Amino acid sequence: MSNLAPVPELYVSYESAQKLKVEAGDLLSWDLTPRQICDLELLMNGGFNPLKGFLTEADYDSVVDNMRTADGALWPMPITLDVSEKFADGVEPGTDIALRDQEGVILAILSVTDKWVPNKAREAEKVFGADDEAHPAVNYLHNIAGPVYLGGPITGIQQPVHYDFKARRDTPNELRTFLRKMGWRRIVAFQTRNPLHRAHQELTFRAARESQANLLIHPVVGMTKPGDVDHFTRVRCYEAVLDKYPAATTTMSLLPLAMRMAGPREAVWHGLIRKNYGVTHFIVGRDHAGPGKNSQGEDFYGPYDAQDLFREHEAEMGIEMVPFKHMVYVEERAQYEPADEIADKDKVTILNISGTELRRRLAEGLEIPEWFSFPEVVSELRKTRPPRAKQGFTVFFTGFSGSGKSTIANALMVKLMEAGGRPVTLLDGDIVRKNLSSELGFSKEHRDLNIRRIGYVASEITKNGGIAICAPIAPYAATRRAVRQDVEEYGAFVEIHVATPIEVCEARDRKGLYKLAREGKIKEFTGISDPYDVPENPELRVETENVDVDHCAHQVLLKLEAMGLFSGQS
Ligand code: PPS
Repeated sequence: MSNLAPVPELYVSYESAQKLKVEAGDLLSWDLTPRQICDLELLMNGGFNPLKGFLTEADYDSVVDNMRTADGALWPMPITLDVSEKFADGVEPGTDIALRDQEGVILAILSVTDKWVPNKAREAEKVFGADDEAHPAVNYLHNIAGPVYLGGPITGIQQPVHYDFKARRDTPNELRTFLRKMGWRRIVAFQTRNPLHRAHQELTFRAARESQANLLIHPVVGMTKPGDVDHFTRVRCYEAVLDKYPAATTTMSLLPLAMRMAGPREAVWHGLIRKNYGVTHFIVGRDHAGPGKNSQGEDFYGPYDAQDLFREHEAEMGIEMVPFKHMVYVEERAQYEPADEIADKDKVTILNISGTELRRRLAEGLEIPEWFSFPEVVSELRKTRPPRAKQGFTVFFTGFSGSGKSTIANALMVKLMEAGGRPVTLLDGDIVRKNLSSELGFSKEHRDLNIRRIGYVASEITKNGGIAICAPIAPYAATRRAVRQDVEEYGAFVEIHVATPIEVCEARDRKGLYKLAREGKIKEFTGISDPYDVPENPELRVETENVDVDHCAHQVLLKLEAMGLFSGQS
């Protein structure tokens, strides 16, 4: 197929789509997950050509075993529609189902031909190289994906709606039209899920020059590796870098792909997708689409496995691999050079900043030199990842009723407000029970719900750069762990165990509740007739016996300072 001819799409005409949309209203509906929406978009727009729908069982088996569909087409990645058991029970081969986005808009109809329960361990071994949940796609497979797969052809009704960066999103055919219009015949694509720095700019520009091609920066904006810089920030960074290339040599288009981090298989998959987008050359780096370390701390794939597998299938794919050159900065010559082409290695100073070092410098607000990245890129990254002393965080006190949580929390709040810089919110047990959880009691279920609500509010505050101070009893370790996870997506979670022994709390009995609990007038009272899991590894444990409140709050401040969250002058 010529690069310039259109690829087949799965959409029906506008008129048929309007009709189908109405008819599909009566069909059984599946609400697509974010990953399924990404897959569906590329199925419908031809990005996953030659697939015509979600894989059937025969295609799935064959893709998993041989990287080919049942009729022999090269395809390394199982594109499957995973659903819940409950939903699958109501579906038989022969059923048409409406596929809806998260707001209920019907995007496509799936004519189900196959329904089966996959062997996920086998899929993990064959496709991702190991059944090890340290691999993000294996984790997804076992813990997020549904247990039953449905397969069959897709009738496309409409594209998923995107509100962001519309002008930068192209379907394969739109990009082909652009390339045709520009007269670009040789195009080298650069796949990325990270912000571009100077080294990337150098290597992509060199790749284009050496293959005498134009350059397509083709970043993934669907789903990337958990923990990556969000795509909004990245696209703003890419826009800035785009200006650094000679005009009219380079373009950028956003790819709504859900990556699997499958290394070698992923590289081949990326190549096939780029071929559909009309690209002729593709840059494959060291450890392309690598998933990080396995649970033994070792790499899942060898550093050049992706290049080797790509090379093996290059001719069949009809897209040429441009191996990525590792670029390093040579201080004496003030320029980037491919590491393996520096003849006088021992005589020059080679500078490099690793990803980990970059994150450290961002977190601590340290200098990021201009030889490493463009000031515009650094400034975007700093906006998204302010130094820790400017990020939001959550302080989570836990302990018995009457242990002193609220008193210390109040003192801490005042001290933080005195220092200023970030808004502070106190989510004290009593305040929350009055304003957020007034209908809840003290059963395990209700306590968990109460704590999860606190966690949700704290994570939102943390996300928005504020300080949340929580002071509930929070007796269950598993629930505290879940809250920690929610918060840590956005900032630090500082767990503080107020370790006042139950006898002391009871002796103080400030609210008279212990007396009532002993008399059986209050049931399920923590520490008396209800459990409390003592935190095993809190960030700080404070003793309150014979220690004044001011000192306890000060200990917390010192901890925050040691964690880089508070500088005393922020
Ligand atoms: S929990 O377990 O985290 O949901 O509890 P929390 O929201 O912090 O609420 C604890 C306050 O409610 C009062 N109270 C009880 N505590 C424990 N067990 C029982 N059965 C109970 N019934 C009422 C008590 O005053 C707690 O306040 P604090 O501030 O902890 O002293």
